[in-house]
Amino acid sequence: MLPYHERTCYCGEVTEALAGQRVTLTGWVHNRRDHGGMVFIDLRDREGLVQCKFNPETDPEAHAVAGRLRSEFCIVVEGDVAPRPEGLANPNLKTGAIEVNGRKLEILSESATPKFPIEDEVDTNEELRLQYRFLDLRRPPMQHALILRHRIAKAIRDYFDREGFIEIETPFLTKSTPEGARDFLVPSRVQPGTFYALPQSPQLFKQLLMMSGFDKYVQIVRCFRDEDLRADRQPEFTQLDMEMSFVQPENVLECIEGLMKEVMQATHGVEIPTPFPRLSYADAMRDYGIDRPDTRYELKIKDVSDVARTMDFKVFADALAGKDGCVRCIVVPGGADMTRKETDTLTEDLKGIGAGGLPLVKVAAGDGGQLAFQTGIAKFFTPETTGALCAATGAGPNDIIFFATGAEADVCKYLSWLRETIAKRRNLIPEGKWNFLWVVDFPMFQWDEETQRYYAVHHPFTAPRDEDVERLESDPGACRAKAYDVVLNGIELGGGSIRIHRSDVQEKVFNILQMSREEQMLKFRFLLEALKYGPPPHGGIALGLDRMVMLLTGRNNIRDVFSFPKTQRASCPLTEAPSAVSQEQLDELGLRLVGGAKPSDKQPG
Ligand code: AMO
Repeated sequence: MLPYHERTCYCGEVTEALAGQRVTLTGWVHNRRDHGGMVFIDLRDREGLVQCKFNPETDPEAHAVAGRLRSEFCIVVEGDVAPRPEGLANPNLKTGAIEVNGRKLEILSESATPKFPIEDEVDTNEELRLQYRFLDLRRPPMQHALILRHRIAKAIRDYFDREGFIEIETPFLTKSTPEGARDFLVPSRVQPGTFYALPQSPQLFKQLLMMSGFDKYVQIVRCFRDEDLRADRQPEFTQLDMEMSFVQPENVLECIEGLMKEVMQATHGVEIPTPFPRLSYADAMRDYGIDRPDTRYELKIKDVSDVARTMDFKVFADALAGKDGCVRCIVVPGGADMTRKETDTLTEDLKGIGAGGLPLVKVAAGDGGQLAFQTGIAKFFTPETTGALCAATGAGPNDIIFFATGAEADVCKYLSWLRETIAKRRNLIPEGKWNFLWVVDFPMFQWDEETQRYYAVHHPFTAPRDEDVERLESDPGACRAKAYDVVLNGIELGGGSIRIHRSDVQEKVFNILQMSREEQMLKFRFLLEALKYGPPPHGGIALGLDRMVMLLTGRNNIRDVFSFPKTQRASCPLTEAPSAVSQEQLDELGLRLVGGAKPSDKQPG
């Protein structure tokens, strides 16, 4: 038996420095080639590949075993490191200057033919990759992502430890924590008919820890949310969650800026400038139509309602007459080269998210240095309104202007979509930029027309700005919160706030959210009780760790940075979760299935 437990180094670590030395390597056969009687294999482990050569003349036994190797066999090799012959070095490989002359070889286990090649790129549907995740995770980019994830988590823990934070675990079997999603429920066997909720976040526990005097708390923690899944969402995900006592927003912002500086330095060797730019929610919505703007490119939104008001154009006039009506636009520099097909596709796609159409004009240099509009809705513009619109937007020759009309919230939605889509389709997003940004001064509440009530924009424990406390009840819609989101390249990385630490203010907020006294007591008695015992002023934030890793590894799918993620339908093709349970388990929990669902006929365990 070859001593696989005495491995001398990883495959990816065998470089010129080891030339002339004997090594013991373990790993998986990446590929095998037979050349002029020799057998060559690339041996792979988590650190990389190394070429091993088996010579029938000098090492007949090892050569015979090498002849039986197939892809993904797990093996141990003992051999001598030697420079590759003149002209055969591979400059693309870290170990490309050397090879290992195999002296001994043992197959530790054989492998069935893998369901897809273990290569950097695979052209395989994701369902199959997830079903065979243990193979998928052998692929180098997946290994790099999970290793980087570890390095980021390590950098985070080191940073917070140095800053005096204490990592404290909070329960998973708990009570609902409102973060705006549905809860995953866990039935209790001991008390049939009752349920735990898996935490959507440790929000209330971290607030209670402040009341217990821990002062600076941090946790890298799993959260659970039953919500529609997208490319940047999973039903269970990890937050970097922190809370501090005796702070103003600025303290939390500075702490996170310091953290991101360190993480970027540790993982990418990049120095990011701090403080991050701060943008009010109102300005973000006005300029970008979204509360998580991607500022790597311009294409800012311009309000042209004033010019539109002077025009004789029914579409604009109708929009302006409606509730919160406005006319806004985006100027795409040089965009006049867009074809009819491109603009038609944009129009159709935009209709898909609810817009009625996409009015546009192209700008040309007209007579006597005047600008003139062409195509689209050009005929509704006079020389005066053309001039006024160009002055208001800075549009010039060869630009294209896209308009959106209607209620402000809809216009924001259409133009933020348009901004992002045009930037992507026209390759306007520069590579290698890390645009961190804070969005601050969020409104406390948002009015919902349909249900005729207010909702909390963050969560109901968010404190109003000091100057708004007095008008909380009289004018909730005008109150702004001590809340902040951190955004990276157009993705919300995290959000947090200073919390309410006065029970009277907390009750007022619950009242505005139309939560009856009974409901408050049922859901949050413990919080209201704790607020009676000298709660310190406190605040914090949570960052999505998976999103952070996704952005830092340049992925656009969050599943690629999870070891074992769920599909869009929240299932796991590997384990086949969620799955039916036996009648016996249901009986124990006092549960009965309805609507045609059947228990499993298999016994538990
Ligand atoms: P929030 O709900 O904004 O705040 O969540 C914080 C961050 O968690 C990440 N995130 C997710 N990541 C992957 N999949 C999901 N389904 C998902 N949902 C959220 C995002 C988000 O910015 N308790 C508050 C924080 C606080 O106030 O301190 C909270 O959970 O990156």
